Amino acid sequence: MHKKALVMRTKRFILLDISKYFRREMMKQIEMSKAYMKARLPSKGVLIVSQKPDGNHNLMTAEWFMRTSIDPPMFAISVGHSRYTHDCLMDFRYFNLVFPSKEMKDLMALAGSNSGRDMDKFTAGDVEHFPGKLRKLPVLKDALACFECEITSQIKSGDHSIFIGQVRHSWLNNDKELFYYS
Ligand SMILES: Cc1cc2nc3c(=O)[nH]c(=O)nc-3n(C[C@H](O)[C@H](O)[C@H](O)COP(=O)(O)O)c2cc1C
Repeated sequence: MHKKALVMRTKRFILLDISKYFRREMMKQIEMSKAYMKARLPSKGVLIVSQKPDGNHNLMTAEWFMRTSIDPPMFAISVGHSRYTHDCLMDFRYFNLVFPSKEMKDLMALAGSNSGRDMDKFTAGDVEHFPGKLRKLPVLKDALACFECEITSQIKSGDHSIFIGQVRHSWLNNDKELFYYS
């Protein structure tokens, strides 16, 4: 090998080695909530519609949800034990999973920072809706999509419960754009 080529190859090797060292240095161990706060965005949020024991309805913003089965179609939602929605789902085993449109940004904030114990979020948010086909839980007119689910199982996960719901009816509003947190 020529001397010049050998020098070039050695230089490239040294540079690669140094960059690997810096990459390792940049990944630092940190408190979980700080790492997650940075890693979670952009994220999708949904609204969970449930029924209160008095027959009225409640809305809750949720970020912790996922599709869990194709056939039958199923979604899982993770709900904190302290949420009023948790009480509602323990009592009435159905929920509507609502994918919000961009126009629903304010409603997402309202439903995520107030409890249905103290407020009727449907009235406060001036929410337009019609009764769904499964158990008449409200389908939100401004939403992008809405899935009427029946709870088929439940798992405790720390201070939350994961409710798994089978989709019975699905709704789509083709004119709407999905809202997400960024
Ligand atoms: C962006 C966002 C995401 C949230 N995600 C969840 C979630 O996945 N699970 C949960 O239990 N609470 C979540 N919350 C908190 C509830 O929405 C909030 O505590 C709400 O007031 C509960 O309402 P409720 O008491 O009427 O059920 C979230 C709040 C916000 C703003």
